[in-house]
Amino acid sequence: MAADSDQICAESVNDLAGVAAREFFRQFAASPNVVVAAPGRVNLMGEHIDYNDGFCLPMAIERYVVIAAALATDKERAAANLFSTAFAGSITISLDSQPQSPSKGWGRLVNGVVAGFMQRGLKIPSFNAVIHSNIPLGAGLASSAALEVATATVLEELTGVSLEPRDKALLCQQAEHRFGAVPCGILDQFSSVFGRTDELMLLDCRSAQIQRIPFGVRDVSVLITNSNVKHDLADGEYALRRRQCAIENLASSSWRDVTAEALERDCGKLSAIEYRRGCHIVSEISRTTDMAEAIQRNEWPRVGELMYASHESLRGDFEVSCKELDILVELAKDIGPHGGVIGSRMTGGGFGGCTVSLVATLRADEIMHKLTSRFRSRTGIEVTAFLSRPARGAYVLRG
Ligand code: GLA
Repeated sequence: MAADSDQICAESVNDLAGVAAREFFRQFAASPNVVVAAPGRVNLMGEHIDYNDGFCLPMAIERYVVIAAALATDKERAAANLFSTAFAGSITISLDSQPQSPSKGWGRLVNGVVAGFMQRGLKIPSFNAVIHSNIPLGAGLASSAALEVATATVLEELTGVSLEPRDKALLCQQAEHRFGAVPCGILDQFSSVFGRTDELMLLDCRSAQIQRIPFGVRDVSVLITNSNVKHDLADGEYALRRRQCAIENLASSSWRDVTAEALERDCGKLSAIEYRRGCHIVSEISRTTDMAEAIQRNEWPRVGELMYASHESLRGDFEVSCKELDILVELAKDIGPHGGVIGSRMTGGGFGGCTVSLVATLRADEIMHKLTSRFRSRTGIEVTAFLSRPARGAYVLRG
């Protein structure tokens, strides 16, 4: 059965690679000799706790950023010329000196990864590249991380230097911090680097270790529903949430060590908002390990309870949901186990973007139809929904 999903995944990546190669020819009148792919991700549990020493339970999805590239003939100044079908437009980056101030748009993330390579003393030769993707943008599915990881994978090929995979993911996270202006955790970049077909990752964000959780089960599917409400984590709300996670006011130095009882005991040291943020962190940390166990035991009703509780906590205590995501979760809950829905919650940074639902595979089409039509009649908004198996992390298709 695993071959099925590999094949579906490989086909769509090959399609993307074909488009990227044709576009490369149009732009640069040559064929690319390096083609790489890096996936987006969906997180099944553990939201907004990667930067609080918590756990996450993501999988890479069968949606990729693909980059086709080739070394460019040497000119006086080393430069990268990049054209993107997905992120609109073209940019040129100087490779002679460290990229400095963050520019606007997607080019800043590429710049950030280039800066990370240069910081490690790696010399990047001139190259041309085309970037293509089928990851919805601004939808909470880590399209930015996929772009960073794909860029790092191309640079590994062009420089001939493979980074240690953890270092590669951390370099990409740094690119996001310094050039993307989002102080993100490690969830997105680790998922894009370490994803594996038919496996979830229980990512320990304190130790940066991954426990693989098999998810080859075919009668349960992962349904991603995009509210098409765009979010922009660089608008300040994400950074604000980080600041409100006020561990310094508590006796422990890590949220991982704070129990629900300790939080109650010390609530007087926190503002009302900090206390609510803390309630989310502490409860979400235990929900994530509980979820990994429940999935391994096929305890689907428990999985459902945990997903709805997580959504409620993100909505009420962490305040990162929005009306449209709440409606999508409510509609999924109404369909319920009898209609094939195991559980549902918002996924990713929030303030728009997607929900993730676990559904009975045989009912998946019917559920997608019900969700989209009911959502349309309630809100007038078209949602888009798709299924994904856990997919393979970044890799080289041609190198
Ligand atoms: C964004 C960030 C991640 C993580 C999620 C919320 O995707 O990039 O690091 O914090 O939000 O779980």
